[in-house]
Amino acid sequence: MQINFKELTILELFNNYPYARDFFSENFIPIEGLEHLTIDEALENIDEDIIEDRAINIEVFKVHLLEYIEMMKSFYTDEAIEAHNITILPGFYKDGSKENYDELEIKSGEIICIVGPTGSGKSRLLADIEWAANKDTPTKRTVLINGKTLETKERFSASNKLVAQLSQNMNFVMDLTVEEFLDLHASSRLVENKDDIIKNIFDKANDLAGETFKLDTPITSLSGGQSRALMIADTAILSKSPIVLIDEIENAGIDRKKALELLVSEEKIVLMSTHDPILALMGDKRIIINNGGIDKIVDTSDEERNILHKLEKLDKIMFNMRNKLRYGKKLEFEEEIENA
Ligand SMILES: Nc1ncnc2c1ncn2[C@@H]1O[C@H](COP(=O)(O)OP(=O)(O)O)[C@@H](O)[C@H]1O
Ligand SMILES: [Mg+2]
Repeated sequence: MQINFKELTILELFNNYPYARDFFSENFIPIEGLEHLTIDEALENIDEDIIEDRAINIEVFKVHLLEYIEMMKSFYTDEAIEAHNITILPGFYKDGSKENYDELEIKSGEIICIVGPTGSGKSRLLADIEWAANKDTPTKRTVLINGKTLETKERFSASNKLVAQLSQNMNFVMDLTVEEFLDLHASSRLVENKDDIIKNIFDKANDLAGETFKLDTPITSLSGGQSRALMIADTAILSKSPIVLIDEIENAGIDRKKALELLVSEEKIVLMSTHDPILALMGDKRIIINNGGIDKIVDTSDEERNILHKLEKLDKIMFNMRNKLRYGKKLEFEEEIENA
């Protein structure tokens, strides 16, 4: 839910989002005496000399303020709905015919892959789960959480954190270091051993990312792969969401196997749409989507797991070569093959 900036006064803003006050003071925006004004009005009324002296860009500040509040909101309202299992009941293909399976139950600690041609309905299936569909999405599927449909209230509440989405890159514009970001999230969780948790997330994220970053690296300067790695480690360790949905992350430049292992070790349900055979075979099952419907549900066979070992070797070779390239080393194919 986006904040409507036009409506809120500064006072209302601070009352609703206490951490917004700190954001003003940290950015040296003197707001005292202007609290009765709306945010736009207040920012227009700040002394021009102060704005010039401190080189404040009001428009940029507004964007950052909004993003900061959205992030903090997502940290604080992260009240999880517990989900030990989800069940997907059949709906309809795009042509209106009924899906041909009984029901699909997925338990914590399971990885389910979703495969199928572009436009077939993979993202739609993920959205059905995110939405806890109740015959009210284009597929008319029903998604049960612990065997029951969710109440409308739970489904649409702003604090419903049934699902963590890893589909988009983080769009950081804020001026925070990795450590400050993790500290904010851990503080909102009220965890006891905050420093250990921050260290743990940081170490795991670095382990997932090919290129290392530091605790004092600004989050705005993380690469796509690094920020993805940070999000995955943060989600696995700090987010209470029991379900993680991943929409096509193949090119994210992270160690995908370790990423999945980390998520699953935290007893999450992982559903992931993918065209990547390594990811598809890492799943316990794969759902094959066609024409908007679940066409088949296939268990990963032992034979396929053997292929997976070979693909992983190839993948490791590619991963190592990419890193060698990055750090200016020479590539030697034979050596890479032997080491894999
Ligand atoms: N069973 C269905 N009935 C009606 N529309 C559907 C169904 N499944 C998917 N769609 C629609 O088809 C379009 C493509 O689906 P999408 O999930 O984006 O495909 P993919 O992610 O596999 O590329 C979307 O507009 C989606 O809402
Ligand atoms: Mg898609």
